[in-house]
Amino acid sequence: MALWGGRFSSDMNTKVAEFTESVSFDKRLYKHDIEGSKAHVTMLAASGIIPGKTAEDICAGLDKIKNDIENGNFEFKIELEDIHMHIESALIDALGPEGARVHSARSRNDQVALDIRLYLRDEIDSIKEGVKEFQKALVEQAASSSDAIMPGFTHLQHAQPVLFAHHLLAYVEMLERDAGRLDDCRKRLNVMPLGSGAIAGTTLPIDREKVQELLGFPEITRNSMDAVADRDFACELLAALSIFSMHVSRLSEDIILWCSQEFSFVELDDAFCTGSSLMPQKKNPDIAEISRGKTARVYGDLMSLLTLCKGLPLTYNRDLQEDKEPLFDAIDTVKMVLAVYPPMVATMKLNKDKMLRAAEDPFLMATDLAEKLVENGMPFRVAHHRTGSLVKWCRENHKNLAALSLDEMRISIPEAEDDCLKLFSPSSSVSKREIPGGTGPGQVKKQISFWTARLSDNKDR
Ligand code: ARG
Repeated sequence: MALWGGRFSSDMNTKVAEFTESVSFDKRLYKHDIEGSKAHVTMLAASGIIPGKTAEDICAGLDKIKNDIENGNFEFKIELEDIHMHIESALIDALGPEGARVHSARSRNDQVALDIRLYLRDEIDSIKEGVKEFQKALVEQAASSSDAIMPGFTHLQHAQPVLFAHHLLAYVEMLERDAGRLDDCRKRLNVMPLGSGAIAGTTLPIDREKVQELLGFPEITRNSMDAVADRDFACELLAALSIFSMHVSRLSEDIILWCSQEFSFVELDDAFCTGSSLMPQKKNPDIAEISRGKTARVYGDLMSLLTLCKGLPLTYNRDLQEDKEPLFDAIDTVKMVLAVYPPMVATMKLNKDKMLRAAEDPFLMATDLAEKLVENGMPFRVAHHRTGSLVKWCRENHKNLAALSLDEMRISIPEAEDDCLKLFSPSSSVSKREIPGGTGPGQVKKQISFWTARLSDNKDR
């Protein structure tokens, strides 16, 4: 008979047990469940609700259960539904009726709300570490390739020359916002829900602040009904992980393009690629491709959870048991990506010549010419128009923009001066962009120093 068997006259049908169980996946909450229960019984004893000796025995019993689980000496059976009942039942087996005092003034509804928050708090901390390592790998790669120039793209068309490092640092910015979103989410989930009971709190004289303090929460939930029904923090985490995955997916797309024969801007280390079972010459950027693909499942996890919550009347509904698999899946997925991606980025080799050659097309410097005309006093729209006509004339007459004589340039731009003829090298184009946020080498160096200092291990963010 199940722990809740009092009002039932027959055992559960096996198919129903299989259908309703969650222990097969929520067993990963065991450590946090035990941590929460220990704080709970310590408070129960301090508040005179259970004897001090019982609380001590329960804490020792819980420690033993934790050991047993970690050493594989613990039997999981679906009749006991979830991890909470497994631990409680093992405690009662070990301590007899005194063990049953652990669940005084508590429901699985507030217990599971607590467990998920404790678990996610730890996972967020570890994911944040991973994001930081990822940023470091990007910054190191940027620092070691700070002289490499490539064409920057808009609409996937050559736009203007940029430093490759500037491109990488754009991703460091994205990851920084991801870390900020994780912080925000952690703040909102860092509230202690235990004491909310099933829905309405408890008649027993518990001390919620004591549990809050023991578990290191800065505050307690204010409304018991909200506390057992709320999964906003889980939605927020999946939203943050989805946006992070979107960033990884965009970087993947860049890397996949850069590795293609058409671009050949970078080569990935052999350890981070796979071959084809048929075509002997192939070396595929699979990590980038699979990471781009895994973004789809993280989005799916977010959609599952939002859809799960949208139709639920207050307060707890058993549907909420379905919150865990999408959460676990997204966390596992992101952690796997974080394990393989940073070393792939760190070991990527650049083909700087190929990048530079692609950036050498003088038409990429057409904007520099228009801006030179502005500098010499021409309104920008006029300068833009004149430069556009010059580009057209060059194309029609098969002329190289960088090799024009002043007379040729003056056919389209009568106001052109000698200084308009010397604008067409990618390195001078880049080096003129020394405004904050620009791709000028001095600016990019500053950014690299900024990030190196910010990401150094003794800096807390
Ligand atoms: N396994 C359940 C869950 O994950 C725990 C809470 C069950 N509460 C209940 N009243 N049946 O949500």
